[in-house]
Amino acid sequence: MAGLMAGFGNFTHAVVRGIPASFAAEALRMNQGDVDLLKAQREHEVYVDVLKHKLGLQVIELPADESLPDCVFVEDAAVVCGDTALITRPGAESRRKETEAMKKVLSDLNLNIVEMTDESATLDGGDVLFTGQEFFVGLSKRTNQRGAEILADAFKDYAVSTVPVTDGLHLKSFCSMAGPGLIVIGSSEPAQKALKIMQQMSDHRYDKLTVTDDGAANCVYMNLPGKGHVLLHPTPEQYPESAKVYEKLKDHMLIPVSNLEKVKVDGALTCCSVLINRKTSA
Ligand code: GLY
Repeated sequence: MAGLMAGFGNFTHAVVRGIPASFAAEALRMNQGDVDLLKAQREHEVYVDVLKHKLGLQVIELPADESLPDCVFVEDAAVVCGDTALITRPGAESRRKETEAMKKVLSDLNLNIVEMTDESATLDGGDVLFTGQEFFVGLSKRTNQRGAEILADAFKDYAVSTVPVTDGLHLKSFCSMAGPGLIVIGSSEPAQKALKIMQQMSDHRYDKLTVTDDGAANCVYMNLPGKGHVLLHPTPEQYPESAKVYEKLKDHMLIPVSNLEKVKVDGALTCCSVLINRKTSA
């Protein structure tokens, strides 16, 4: 694929953040449930280790902040595309200050920083699906129309369409990209309906990979030198049926990554990193 798709999935850096002790009791969640802090921290260490050692990305690790229980979910604090970083205004009040450390680290990487300062706007990065050709923004409990408009202003090279999120926390709670032009989608009715809306609004044609579980439709795609298509995807232990679908992808380096604890507070694989393509190191 040419044009805007060139370079889709090319990343050199990842920003991640540690899990504070407050995560277990205070991280926001849609369903109440006990979280094992040590298990969550170990799970996150493995995720970071994959980015750093298995994939060779330059990983910038922000320290955990006890006053920000959800701070590990860095994706919600910034949307980075090309040389531009949009610092978001997260929908949950308790998460707003997560953007401060993110702004600093992305400024240090010499990205063009755009800040969402409008107090009527909210946007979580988890609601932003970048396909390489356009953006889809989920209108959810966390992200509103004004947030989507500010994102469209920040990334003027791309079309931006909005999609209602009627079920789940974010748009990417039930979909993500698994490659250029390949959308992974959950099987539930709301997920399939959202995909239909995206297809109707788009001038582009996408292939789809349907997985049994909505939660398993969140994977992390990269295209890395010497490695080609890389996919961090849910494990067979967590989603046995959906994992079989990923295992059929023959052109990808498949890396199952456990997310059993973070999912209890609605965290998915994409939530835990902001991926960036900087040719020169910071
Ligand atoms: N626990 C992730 C969130 O609710 O934002």
